Amino acid sequence: MGSNRSSFTGKIGFVLAAAGSAVGLGNIWRFPYLAAKYGGGIFLLVYIVLSVTFGFALMVAEIAIGRKTQLSAISAYGSLDKRFSFVGVLGALVPVIILPYYSVIGGWVMKYMVGFAAGHTSQMAEDSYFGNYLGLTWEPVLWFLLFIGITAVVVMLGVEKGVEKVSKVMMPILIGLILVIVIYTLVTMDGAWDGVVYYLKPDFSKFSMMTVVAAMGQLFYSMSLAMGIMITFGSYIKKDISIEKSVKQIEIFDTGVAFLAGLMIIPAVFAFSGGNEEALGQGPGLMFVTLPKIFEAMPGGAFIGAAFFVMVLFAALTSSISLMETVVSIFMDKLKWGRKLSTLAVLGTSLVLGLCSSLGYSVWAEVRIIGMQLLDFFDFFSNSLLMPVVALATAIFIGYVLKPKTVIEEVELSGPFKQKKLFAVVIRYVAPACILVILISSILTAFGVFKI
Ligand code: TRP
Repeated sequence: MGSNRSSFTGKIGFVLAAAGSAVGLGNIWRFPYLAAKYGGGIFLLVYIVLSVTFGFALMVAEIAIGRKTQLSAISAYGSLDKRFSFVGVLGALVPVIILPYYSVIGGWVMKYMVGFAAGHTSQMAEDSYFGNYLGLTWEPVLWFLLFIGITAVVVMLGVEKGVEKVSKVMMPILIGLILVIVIYTLVTMDGAWDGVVYYLKPDFSKFSMMTVVAAMGQLFYSMSLAMGIMITFGSYIKKDISIEKSVKQIEIFDTGVAFLAGLMIIPAVFAFSGGNEEALGQGPGLMFVTLPKIFEAMPGGAFIGAAFFVMVLFAALTSSISLMETVVSIFMDKLKWGRKLSTLAVLGTSLVLGLCSSLGYSVWAEVRIIGMQLLDFFDFFSNSLLMPVVALATAIFIGYVLKPKTVIEEVELSGPFKQKKLFAVVIRYVAPACILVILISSILTAFGVFKI
């Protein structure tokens, strides 16, 4: 089965492909709103600490399992130990849940791209614009349909490579634009530096269990962990590629982009609202409310705004394509369906769940599941419940069944594994303990004991 797997060309090919899947709306849309909501500096600190310990160990483990078994996640766990087949199945469920609401946000991005291109900058900069737009009911649904439609066509035709190539060109431009926006905000806007302090200086009084829950969920989400995707990537890489180095590069790149996105949004929120808590705690709409205000203030803002959202759109599309491809290939492998039929099936489930997420802001605005709007609920369910369960099972599996040695040996095929002690300790003790606490907090949150 393993013999005809395609493989990445060269070392940098793998890192770029993994980084391309990792960098997306998670970095640009999700990270800043969580950092704003959960205390700024303290969130950033917790995130970075988790990323170099926990994220590092989990990503190394997943890639090593993939390379060792030469299988995709859903089969990899079962092939190593029958009792752990369920982990592959749960992991496979994650992209099924993420893809629909990811595409709803992708639709928002398209709408904003077109809005700036049409020069509607000042309307879009109004406080009520985003909320009113969501309330329009059908327009956001149409943009969602377009976004998921493009994703499905690309997956069905199997032309991901083309999009990836474009996206590689867009990535540096995106980073350049983010830098321009950061510098412009910091230089010209009153109050922006208070935002920098809020973002960079940890305020320990703002620490709560929810900070850790949110940071860990974000880590899984942003680095595409705990859903089998890195296992599949691992199955494509050659034995002489250093897993440890690659993981470090992917982490630095992914965290770097998220960090800059936070620096682009949070100071601007302070400048426009005087740092008021309500503006910081807005949630998923934060970027869509804040950025238009910056673009309105900037010379040439409509053009920069349109260009910015084009780049974000490409980053989002590479991620949504890879999310859909993951699910489609599972259908193809497991059910032996053809590519077309599998894509249509995935499209079908995504339409239903995506429609719920989008309408959750308009006709179903009153609907709450465990106190959350529908989109937030799907996000919470996958990131704060399913992914921790998958990660916990993975840590126990590697730490106690396979033993860390198995992963270490796989990593050492390409040279010494410098942080193998850290790896073993994290995967056996730190990760299971942390995730267990996280899971309990998430469950208590779901039952309303903690406030989100
Ligand atoms: N990491 C992506 C982002 O930050 C989102 C994502 C989660 C993803 N899981 C994935 C992308 C699986 C591709 C494949 O936006």
